[in-house]
Amino acid sequence: MKSYLVTGAAGFIGSNYLKYLLTRYDDVQVVALDLLTYAGYLGTIADDIDSERCFFVRGDIGDRALADRLFAEYKFDTVVNFAAESHVDRSIENPQLFLETNILGTQNLLDAARRAWVTGRDADGRPTWRAGVRFHQVSTDEVYGSLGEEGFFTEQTPLAPHSPYSASKASADMIVCAYRDTYGMPVSITRCSNNYGPYQFPEKLIPLVINNILEGKKIPVYGRGDNVRDWLYVEDHCKAIDLVVTQGAPGCIYNVGGHNERRNLQIVETIIRTVRRLMEEEPARRTLLKRQETGPDGLPRIDWIDESLISFVKDRLGHDLRYGIDPTKITNDLGWRPETDFETGIEKTIRWNLDNHAWVEAVSGTDYQNYYEKMYAGR
Ligand code: NAD
Ligand code: TYD
Repeated sequence: MKSYLVTGAAGFIGSNYLKYLLTRYDDVQVVALDLLTYAGYLGTIADDIDSERCFFVRGDIGDRALADRLFAEYKFDTVVNFAAESHVDRSIENPQLFLETNILGTQNLLDAARRAWVTGRDADGRPTWRAGVRFHQVSTDEVYGSLGEEGFFTEQTPLAPHSPYSASKASADMIVCAYRDTYGMPVSITRCSNNYGPYQFPEKLIPLVINNILEGKKIPVYGRGDNVRDWLYVEDHCKAIDLVVTQGAPGCIYNVGGHNERRNLQIVETIIRTVRRLMEEEPARRTLLKRQETGPDGLPRIDWIDESLISFVKDRLGHDLRYGIDPTKITNDLGWRPETDFETGIEKTIRWNLDNHAWVEAVSGTDYQNYYEKMYAGR
């Protein structure tokens, strides 16, 4: 039985990874550690928690006593650290929280792992490590900064983050590498491009657009919608992390992305078209729409679901123009390739959001409404 600590397991990617891990392996035991901030929802993983293979602990990755207690009790072999403050716009409003969680929280976990996993010293005084242990840091392509119209991020691209979020993630990566280089800690890092899929919090572009259409609200597009992101279906990311954790050499860093670049405006237009088509094909779905004006056919109208919903708003400060990942290393070394193409993935994601509107409503309560009012009011 392998013992995992998965942090941030009630968030978007962490919950998808937790489900993937429990489905893929019979011989793993997992502690899901999550502080349940606004972005973490226990309901997402309620069905995965049991008394044998998956235990939930509500707590802060920055809590030293808690981390030591969990390492002592569960004898983790593997830590996969997803826990983070993850939204760029929020990092522009409150950078300090990002530094505390993303940098100091990661460093606290690294220290707890070091205390638990170091078995002694070799003749040269270097720490010796328990066999088979691994600390995996889930990072982002945003640590590389922004690309122009050409080129891709490779693992050799210098770190040049711009936002407080990406600066905090780059700092965490450097601390992880410092523990590798100083103490010989068996670590790995994956730097992935933008994810989309089930259970993504509606502050992020794709679920925000779907949700705003259902709410009958305008769709805020920053600047002219020209910024480019490289989108990856979340399950493909989870598979990449699993490969790196189980087969990647200790100390390795891998970029993860599927050559799936789209301008934001293209993404928004695709979602508008797809939501409208799904509502045409399956009229029962129209009950989800807040706007319930009946058309001549006696059904709620959907002719307003078009590009007129788009509202170009004030740009994000320091908005990175383009991200694009070169995934050659993970493909050559570990045989990873994305399995879900964008057209399939975006339709699955939209269908998921429509089929699971109760989940969306549960996570977008008053706090989210207040956030939305504040974040978008002056734009
Ligand atoms: P998310 O915001 O959906 O989830 C983050 C989770 O961490 C939440 O459940 C939250 O409650 C938890 N958390 C926050 N602070 C915590 C703390 N102090 N202690 C314990 N738990 C805490 O984020 P996500 O999109 O799932 O991202 C997960 C990780 O993947 C992050 O490290 C992020 O930087 C990275 N990443 C995200 C993307 C993306 O497109 N979303 C892409 C590449 C990398
Ligand atoms: P986001 O989902 O916040 O991810 P990230 O900033 O980590 O890439 O944003 C994706 C892109 O969409 C980014 O270029 C900013 C843009 N965007 C909008 O145009 N409008 C919005 O309301 C949001 C949330 C994002």
